[in-house]
Amino acid sequence: MTPPDRWIRSLKASRGSQTCAGELKLADSVRIAPAEGKLGVLTPGIGAVSTTFIAGVEAVKRGFGAPIGSLTQLATIRLGKRTEGRTPLIKDFVPLASIADLEFGGWDIFEDSAYEAARNAAVLDAAMLERVREPLEKIRPMEAVFDQDYVRRIHGPNVKESRTKMEKAEMLMDDIRRFQERTGVARTVMVWCGSTEVFHRVAEVHQTLKAFEAGLAKNDPEIAPSQIYAYAALKLGIPYVNGAPNLTTDTPALHDLARDSGIPICGKDFKTGQTFMKTLIAPGLKARMLGMSGWFSTNILGNRDGEVLDDPGSFRSKEETKLSVLGQILQSDLYPQLYGELYHSVRINYYPPRGDAKEGWDNIDIFGWLGYPMQIKVNFLCRDSILAAPLVLDLVLFIDLAHRAGMRGIQEWLSFYFKAPMHAPNVYPEHDIFIQLMKLKNTLRWMRGEDLITHLGLEYYD
Ligand SMILES: NC(=O)c1ccc[n+]([C@@H]2O[C@H](COP(=O)([O-])OP(=O)(O)OC[C@H]3O[C@@H](n4cnc5c(N)ncnc54)[C@H](O)[C@@H]3O)[C@@H](O)[C@H]2O)c1
Repeated sequence: MTPPDRWIRSLKASRGSQTCAGELKLADSVRIAPAEGKLGVLTPGIGAVSTTFIAGVEAVKRGFGAPIGSLTQLATIRLGKRTEGRTPLIKDFVPLASIADLEFGGWDIFEDSAYEAARNAAVLDAAMLERVREPLEKIRPMEAVFDQDYVRRIHGPNVKESRTKMEKAEMLMDDIRRFQERTGVARTVMVWCGSTEVFHRVAEVHQTLKAFEAGLAKNDPEIAPSQIYAYAALKLGIPYVNGAPNLTTDTPALHDLARDSGIPICGKDFKTGQTFMKTLIAPGLKARMLGMSGWFSTNILGNRDGEVLDDPGSFRSKEETKLSVLGQILQSDLYPQLYGELYHSVRINYYPPRGDAKEGWDNIDIFGWLGYPMQIKVNFLCRDSILAAPLVLDLVLFIDLAHRAGMRGIQEWLSFYFKAPMHAPNVYPEHDIFIQLMKLKNTLRWMRGEDLITHLGLEYYD
């Protein structure tokens, strides 16, 4: 049975056997191939996020680091009724790859090993890095596919040269095959941890796979480096996660390629600091029907990501994903009286002394009963890559799970991790983090044939 048939059968089963009080009984569960062998993790970009993630995994493997912030490692999932007391760890409930089985590789425009890149990023202290120096030093970046028109502020020597973008895609596929042979991995996933590319819209060349492949051969300027990586991955049957706000797989051509080849994709832009806070606070204010007239967000950030975002083209990509959140959560079309006049603004300033320790300020102007105004101030002194690393781990493990479960195309259930979740064209994206979490956990229950939890709970009082 093909994956979509299985989906439909399973969904029909869930609808057909509705039981009491809104609980959906699944007659069937999804077949999931076991997580046998090693799992390769390839990251375009060996910078602050990817090295913090890799160093952290190596520390956890060696028993001197705790995977704090990771659902796959720490969270439990409730099964059945509240009276049943069944709350296994997620990692015991669904067959995830083990952390011990992860193997890393990647590309960067700089020649630094993952150890040197981590030292430069200065997220983790020298003592911690020394303890994982050996595995990190072994990770040497492969030559990148890079285009200065897409990332303007950085320049590096470790870049592929070739006549066409199609040749570059083939060179990436060769890199991937060599990595797979060298490490002996059974499966591979790719997570974009490279810089944010300049804002571009979907163009003619992105409309169909045929047009896209012709564009690769003709060096169409609308094809971004991240799309060449994604194309190479999807052609080799490798799931792709987009951690940046880049357009990448948000195009009909690459989306169709993923769906038609049975490969899961998800994105975009890890939801870490300020936007994470926004999706915590905004649903709460809206739930209480409190009005909002303004939300001003500003950040100072001194890492390489901050330097890239200092370019207006890259900032525009980030601004789009950061701004998209409030509109959907607050639904001003349904509540014009409360949110119709909202002024939402986001700023990022590059400020080198802070490095990766970003500081974000939010000023929220709200109003309550009879329109009386109030203010909320949030000052989040966060660590960007410390927040991002567990998200990368979860996404690696969940997208691999999705692939083994035969799920393909956009994985909306992973919206929880993204500022601008990819979604089907006929539905709006879900930004409320609590709905996203419910969607994620219900998808896991659905995969294992457990009852979906609606939180109706009337059966306890019958
Ligand atoms: N840290 C966070 O909290 C967070 C949150 C959301 C999104 N992101 C996004 O994740 C990405 C990585 O962030 P970071 O802090 O690690 O940045 P970083 O600058 O430290 O690392 C990015 C690396 O990508 C490399 N690179 C750029 N273009 C490349 C290409 N075409 N091929 C291969 N390598 C390339 C750069 O040389 C750099 O080393 C950025 O796009 C950032 O916006 C980060």
